Amino acid sequence: MCGIVGYVGEKQALEIVVAGLRRLEYRGYDSAGVAVVADRELHTRKKAGKLANLEVLLGTDPLPGSTIGIGHTRWATHGVPNDLNAHPHTSADGRVAIIHNGIIENFAELRDDLIANGVPITSDTDSEVVAHLLAAALPVHDGDLPEAMRSVCRLLEGAFTLVAINADQPDLVVGARRNSPLVVGVGDGENFMASDVSAFIAHTREAIELGQDQVVVLTRDSVTVTDFFGEPAPVTPFTVTWDASAAEKGGYDLFMLKEIAEQPKAVADTLLGRIDRSGSLQLDDMRLSDAELRAVSKVIIIACGTAYHAGMVAKYAIEHWTRIPCEVELASEFRYRDPIVDPRTLIIAISQSGETMDTLMAMRHAREQGAKVLAICNTQGATIPRESDAALYTYAGPEIAVASTKAFLTQIVACYLVALYLAQVRGNKFPDEIRAIIAELADMPSLVDLVLDTAEPVRRLAHLFADARSVLFIGRHVGFPVALEGALKLKELAYMHAEGFAAGELKHGPIALIEDGLPVIVVAPSPRGRSVLHEKIVSNIQEVRARGAVTIVIAEEGDEAVAAYADHIIRVPQCPTLMQPLVSTVPLQVFACEMATVKGHDVDQPRNLAKSVTVE
Ligand code: F6R
Repeated sequence: MCGIVGYVGEKQALEIVVAGLRRLEYRGYDSAGVAVVADRELHTRKKAGKLANLEVLLGTDPLPGSTIGIGHTRWATHGVPNDLNAHPHTSADGRVAIIHNGIIENFAELRDDLIANGVPITSDTDSEVVAHLLAAALPVHDGDLPEAMRSVCRLLEGAFTLVAINADQPDLVVGARRNSPLVVGVGDGENFMASDVSAFIAHTREAIELGQDQVVVLTRDSVTVTDFFGEPAPVTPFTVTWDASAAEKGGYDLFMLKEIAEQPKAVADTLLGRIDRSGSLQLDDMRLSDAELRAVSKVIIIACGTAYHAGMVAKYAIEHWTRIPCEVELASEFRYRDPIVDPRTLIIAISQSGETMDTLMAMRHAREQGAKVLAICNTQGATIPRESDAALYTYAGPEIAVASTKAFLTQIVACYLVALYLAQVRGNKFPDEIRAIIAELADMPSLVDLVLDTAEPVRRLAHLFADARSVLFIGRHVGFPVALEGALKLKELAYMHAEGFAAGELKHGPIALIEDGLPVIVVAPSPRGRSVLHEKIVSNIQEVRARGAVTIVIAEEGDEAVAAYADHIIRVPQCPTLMQPLVSTVPLQVFACEMATVKGHDVDQPRNLAKSVTVE
């Protein structure tokens, strides 16, 4: 959702804030704005559209120099993306500026009270009320912004990250959070706060996680954290493991291209350090005891979007290797169906950002019922791992393109590590069997590399089918979630109608969609795996071809049986069935990326989307 930056120090705040916004723009790109304090006056600039529009405005209508500033990129919730609704919002007297991420659920009644007290409301947002409430609270608290912020936070319902500055206190920035991300960057003679560390990674790798319902006050030399009542709050410092270059395009035209190319390394890094000398799995960050893992009677995976598809793949491995029943559930649905969860349920919450509100709420619900939660996450300091009983990090590095790629592969790998660890602890598999599977996983980076090296024909196919009205994806077994993921990528990037189906389901309805020339992408299982699966997909290919579909088949090297029925074939290297998603997803990512490029879309920042979805 929205991206937030705050800075106080010795340097020019505007440059730092705008550079931070550039790194956070993937979080929201409907509008952008900044505010600084200079000579005890507040100055703001804001503009609808991408950050570039704001930069043009700052060129024609510059801000005065200042060493304190805040900035915001918006993903609209309340009010259309226009200049007026862009953040920062200011109090009526122009002394206080705020930026906000989240939704203030009781804003309507707060706004009505303000209007009744004669306060002019100028935007359609839920956020603006906070600026007016702060202005009203300041005189009650001797003009002290931190105190005013605490008192206002106590009035607010919903999810929020707030950052505010006060023209009368030009040496401090105040932030607050509830159910919405905010991290602090600790510098030398300067301090930062932001939605995520990428905004300040160019200046410092030392960071502080904030807990729920905390207010943080930054001056250039101090960081003070309290709860909403002013009581000192515990903080957790951490050092970011990657550097600024990881959050840059590194010679690629698009973040997505870079992130697709990084997948071999991301998979290798996620495996790194998790296997001891004897070949046993060693998950240091697994804070669940062996006794707790032995007691698990059911696994429920909760996640959204691409992470949900990774969970669907993982289910096959978890049940196969551990014999523990495993359900996969969309996080946004989970708590509304009265799920059966008890202390023997292991919840695996998968989230790249670690901030997805649907997933957070689902895992909180499960914990309330006594379940243990294990987070699989790519972001240090994020809320989901922090609130979980255990966390396993995917070391994919920052994922900036809105469409998830390397997170998907590493989430599958992390889930597999959890499954194998469960099998190891519970004795479902002999050590040599576990070692053999780990060896298969260790081969995957080079196989993914091979797929990348041979991706050119996939790009050509994107050009060939650029005018297609619709594309269908079908697969069986682990190929089914891969088909869903391929369709999701195409929808979100190329804005094309795309659907993924379990190939066996076609004849139960969707086959009616097949018409002359319709491209159908088939994720074919290996003929070396369960032969029945392979035979069945061959039949499915024939069924759609007989009705006029053009088939594009992703098949492993040496699979000649499907070749006979494929109009186009994309080869992927041979690997065991459960490893196939790690290779067969990659051509689908390349296909969607190229299709969006051909159509002239913004690949890294597709319309209507945001990277980190911090509202329900
Ligand atoms: C699709 C995509 C989304 C995310 C989903 C969950 O390309 O990126 O579907 O996978 O919003 O996000 P995280 O993993 O951050 O919880």
